[in-house]
Amino acid sequence: MIEIRPTSLETAIGAAALQRACFPAPFPEDLLFSGDEVAEHIRRFPEGQFVALHEGLVVGSCTNMLASREDWNAHRGWADAIGGLSLARHNPDGTVLYGVDVSIHPEFRGQGLARRFYQKRFDLVQELGLEFYGTVCRLPGASESGLSAEAFAQQVLAGERIDSPLTPFLRIGLRYGGLIHGYMDDEESLHAGAILTWEPTR
Ligand SMILES: CC(C)(COP(=O)(O)OP(=O)(O)OC[C@H]1O[C@@H](n2cnc3c(N)ncnc32)[C@H](O)[C@@H]1OP(=O)(O)O)[C@@H](O)C(=O)NCCC(=O)NCCS
Repeated sequence: MIEIRPTSLETAIGAAALQRACFPAPFPEDLLFSGDEVAEHIRRFPEGQFVALHEGLVVGSCTNMLASREDWNAHRGWADAIGGLSLARHNPDGTVLYGVDVSIHPEFRGQGLARRFYQKRFDLVQELGLEFYGTVCRLPGASESGLSAEAFAQQVLAGERIDSPLTPFLRIGLRYGGLIHGYMDDEESLHAGAILTWEPTR
């Protein structure tokens, strides 16, 4: 059985190690969290950090922060939007739950873990009375498609192509809101990211 729990200082190192299994090269290693940075996420916003544990090992992690609506609307690049890997831009008064990362170990994908983490995110939006959830998703299938990032995203939206993160997040119920160019140093995604949101029904 796989349990979802708040990330603790004991599981912070496992969460950092998981990043390395989930984002292999050419993804830049300097964009991955260290154990100390995960500990900093817990200090800043404990309610927003989750891990999935299988027999005591971290097989999934989910990192979140709060952003003001103004900061969300600015659609900055990832590093700037989050204020570096320690999430210095987390704003305790923010009304937008910003999805910083969700990572599932390759051997545990396709078993509904991302969906379970997303349910935690949606519950948090409701519990904290936030306006909405927002994230910006990689498009790692874009570069090998030979298409522009826009054309690739449109084909994924139309169900004509699969992208390993965008397809699951659309199935989970996130709404596409366009692309940010230069979102991240991410060759596979042609450096673009797809804006995705979810709003609660009240
Ligand atoms: C993207 C990722 C988080 C998905 O996690 P996951 O636990 O495998 O996803 P789930 O099993 O919860 O799947 C959610 C839905 O997407 C579908 N899905 C998952 N992977 C899919 C794929 N590669 N192709 C098509 N559909 C897929 C599932 O069937 C499910 O749909 P359903 O519930 O309607 O049947 C995981 O692949 C991952 O960690 N990737 C590497 C890290 C990453 O890219 N993170 C996101 C950064 S933007």
